[in-house]
Amino acid sequence: MSDEDRATRQSAAAVSIDGRHFQFAGGTGSRFEPGGLVVLRSTDGGEEETDQLGQVEEVAVVIGGAPQGSGRILGLLDGDGRHLDVRRSVPFGSATIRSADARTAELLYGDAATSLPIGSFLASQDIPARLLAQRFNRHTFWCGQSGSGKTYALGVVLEQLLLHTALPMVIFDPNADFVHMRQAHPAATTDARRALADRDIRVLRPSSPSPDALRVRFLDLSLRAKAAVFRLDPLDDRAEHNELMHIEDTVGLVDPARVVPGLVERGTPAARDLAARTENLRVTDWSVWAQGLAAVTDILDSRPDATVLDLGGFAYPEESLVVALAVLDDLWAKREQRRPLLIVIDEAHNFCSPDQTSPLHVAVRERIVQIAAEGRKFGLWLLLSTQRPFRVHPSIISQCDNLALMKMTSPVDLAELANIFGFVPPAMLARASRFKQGEALFAGGFVPAPTMVTMGPRLTREGGADVSVPLRTG
Ligand SMILES: Nc1ncnc2c1ncn2[C@@H]1O[C@H](COP(=O)(O)OP(=O)(O)O)[C@@H](O)[C@H]1O
Ligand SMILES: [Mg+2]
Repeated sequence: MSDEDRATRQSAAAVSIDGRHFQFAGGTGSRFEPGGLVVLRSTDGGEEETDQLGQVEEVAVVIGGAPQGSGRILGLLDGDGRHLDVRRSVPFGSATIRSADARTAELLYGDAATSLPIGSFLASQDIPARLLAQRFNRHTFWCGQSGSGKTYALGVVLEQLLLHTALPMVIFDPNADFVHMRQAHPAATTDARRALADRDIRVLRPSSPSPDALRVRFLDLSLRAKAAVFRLDPLDDRAEHNELMHIEDTVGLVDPARVVPGLVERGTPAARDLAARTENLRVTDWSVWAQGLAAVTDILDSRPDATVLDLGGFAYPEESLVVALAVLDDLWAKREQRRPLLIVIDEAHNFCSPDQTSPLHVAVRERIVQIAAEGRKFGLWLLLSTQRPFRVHPSIISQCDNLALMKMTSPVDLAELANIFGFVPPAMLARASRFKQGEALFAGGFVPAPTMVTMGPRLTREGGADVSVPLRTG
């Protein structure tokens, strides 16, 4: 039996009163699950058949009875099913409904200038799933519980962006997951290998020698960022804050080893206090300071195709926040240049949790909140990934137009996501609790319709793959 025969046998009846939604009864098979694509064929008002592409959104199944459900009409199929017109759809009193084949599903991406292959439809391995590249000019929220495959899947998407677009990206990489992004996976095609080898990919790490060292120039930081490093408040700590404001003239800061002795030599109470503070916080021990090496902001300014910031290799937790703050402040200060950049933050809860109160955390979070609210028009687009959706500040999540959701079992988190991302059919969101690793729901502007996907393979080597338990042999 051919696919077509099988599909017809599974045919069911549908009706659409408003030409936007349809109800159906009958039909079996995985494509009648929420998210499944179907062809609705009606013959209302004459002999001529009208085909429309639809997506199943809700299904109820009772044992012994036919499934019933509803969905959305995505557009009119014309030209013998070779074209999808998403601006047109019509009501019908009765239609047959069958699952759409791969060729019809492909029409969804028809007019997209560039679409990124990222895997296949969850319901049918033969239908490729894609993202619309040009819609990365919005913020994206990516979540799923730990181990759901977020970082792996994020890698799949970033690789495709690298291959198919000229959108530069900076990746905040707390677990060194992307540090091998320059090395093609052995299974990658020759074309992909060549294309990746052509891209300018910089991997900056704390322990790398120049020019790949991940460094920040203290003097370039904004006054607010400098104060945050020293946990100083301009009013509560007036004298020390003032000493810090003039530190470049009084002590000079090229050599961190000279900072504390320089302050002590000044002899004023405020300078002595600032010296003690510096020693206590061990700020001059941080390896993040540039000391003559290129700063991360200089490197990003030249807009490599991808810049990976390995934030996991620092000895002090504040150092990764300093890097984030230096980068985000600098991008914001230069926003009027309107140079597009995708700002990818993995483990985003480390950088924009509403619960953190240290001055560095607050400064980084407020900058991300600002970029979320206003960055879009300047070409600063966020892609935030986290396993704890509510440890990302709510005013950031509410600015995201694209959603990627991987396995998530927490009903509280799912309910909250349903509130924020009202455009996702609830039954598809609920499906996330039963996802396996590597399965994802994409919804929002970067897909023509909400799509559940089995992620495809990576093209570059993964960095932080799980360590396995050593077993005894012999
Ligand atoms: N689609 C996939 N195909 C193969 N391996 C995967 C896939 N997704 C995840 N993994 C593996 O599972 C482990 C956890 O995935 P990861 O992406 O790090 O999860 P998360 O970031 O959600 O915690 C990693 O070792 C990764 O290599
Ligand atoms: Mg991860």
